[in-house]
Amino acid sequence: STTTALIVAAGRGERAGLGTPKQYATIAGKAMIAHAVDALAAHPAIDRIQIVIGAGQSGLLAEALGDRTMPTPVIGGAERRDSVIAGLEAVPAGRVLIHDAARPFLSVAVIDRLLAALDTHDGAVPVLPVVDTIAAADGLLGDVRPRDGLVRVQTPQGFDRDAILAAHRAWAGGPATDDAQVARAAGLAVATVEGDTMLDKLTHTADFAAAEARLAAAMR
Ligand code: CTP
Ligand code: MG
Repeated sequence: STTTALIVAAGRGERAGLGTPKQYATIAGKAMIAHAVDALAAHPAIDRIQIVIGAGQSGLLAEALGDRTMPTPVIGGAERRDSVIAGLEAVPAGRVLIHDAARPFLSVAVIDRLLAALDTHDGAVPVLPVVDTIAAADGLLGDVRPRDGLVRVQTPQGFDRDAILAAHRAWAGGPATDDAQVARAAGLAVATVEGDTMLDKLTHTADFAAAEARLAAAMR
């Protein structure tokens, strides 16, 4: 069956405040979205890459992709979930790995772990343990919450395409920050596999300089 990577890149990147949507910002000489595309294209099990962009961004995408050839991008929506649904509607049945363009440094090993878990589960997500103290805050520090057994959840998140699309259509939970919570609400069994700190999302302005420095260090 077909394995598709679905990259959602229709956000505005407001917290990054870079002037251009962050997915088109250059990191180590290459647009953020091109890093994600190249990582997914390098994996032999991925048959197809579908990108979801914001309205009016096809010129930015074409410039970022250069001579990489891709299926025509789909136009996303107001919330991440709207963009995911638009993308899912455009991809064939089979396995789908839904990935944030904002997590550009994806290793073959993480994809391997996800695909292996999908052989026995409805879904699979990369996770890392929570290492900081977690507490409520409202100006003043509030109660500390136990962090034992908590994980932070990254992307790509793998599912059967028809099952995750049905889960999204059935979701009534309001804004969702990822697809695994939607899958779980629909009763799908989502496996956790080991994530990677290199997959941490680039969200704020300082994350971009830090990512550039880490890449330079990794290449030495
Ligand atoms: N995304 C999307 N469609 C939206 C919102 C987000 O495709 N309507 C994508 C982003 O492009 C990103 C991923 O979802 O790859 C994770 O979102 P986030 O990090 O919040 O990116 P932005 O929404 O672009 O940033 P911000 O929230 O700071 O504006
Ligand atoms: Mg956002």
